[in-house]
Amino acid sequence: MNKYVVKNPSELSPADIQIILDSWDIDEWKGMAGDVFKKKFEKSEFHLLTDANQKILCIARLNFHFKVRIHEKDYPIAELVGFVATEILKGYGRELLILLMENIKTRNIEAVGFCRNKVSPFYANCGLKIFYYKVQFLREWKDNQWYIPVEDDDIISLNLSDEVISGFESLGEKTHAYLRFE
Ligand SMILES: CC(C)(COP(=O)(O)OP(=O)(O)OC[C@H]1O[C@@H](n2cnc3c(N)ncnc32)[C@H](O)[C@@H]1OP(=O)(O)O)[C@@H](O)C(=O)NCCC(=O)NCCS
Repeated sequence: MNKYVVKNPSELSPADIQIILDSWDIDEWKGMAGDVFKKKFEKSEFHLLTDANQKILCIARLNFHFKVRIHEKDYPIAELVGFVATEILKGYGRELLILLMENIKTRNIEAVGFCRNKVSPFYANCGLKIFYYKVQFLREWKDNQWYIPVEDDDIISLNLSDEVISGFESLGEKTHAYLRFE
């Protein structure tokens, strides 16, 4: 039977960090030292699905270093990032996502994810609410300027209040939401 574990960065072993970096496969992060990794992601939690022998099957990072401003109001919303199964299409993604959502609901944590439209059927298949093509109405604070994020299309609700849901639904050409990673 698979196991679900939530770890703060300080609780990750060197082997965990290596598997996470290998799975993320981001060139500039390859070979990152453990202490650098722990510092970089100090405001994140790692939600892991493992097999009975502690082998990691699926990884999700929940970034708390994140706020969303909608209609002049700031919401502390966690961001799902670095979500990857070590072997795809074996059910690990859905299993981890469902456990993660149960976990954050119990803790009253609101959370969203962002994805390319081609991945949205996975989230729809898991029963999540999707705000299709709403990322184009987000603005991201970077290098002292507001940017339009271009890497994603859709916003995924993992656990959001009705107020935030109607805020995301209202986004359009003249109504933007503002993201701050701080
Ligand atoms: C996206 C990802 C985490 C999904 O995990 P997974 O373990 O492969 O997915 P599962 O096996 O749990 O799939 C659950 C269901 O979603 C479907 N599904 C999975 N990926 C899909 C996709 N990209 N598009 C459409 N449907 C998908 C599966 O067919 C399955 O459907 P079924 O129950 O009807 O058979 C995984 O494919 C992955 O690591 N992809 C690369 C990284 C990535 O894109 N991460 C998401 C960034 S937003």
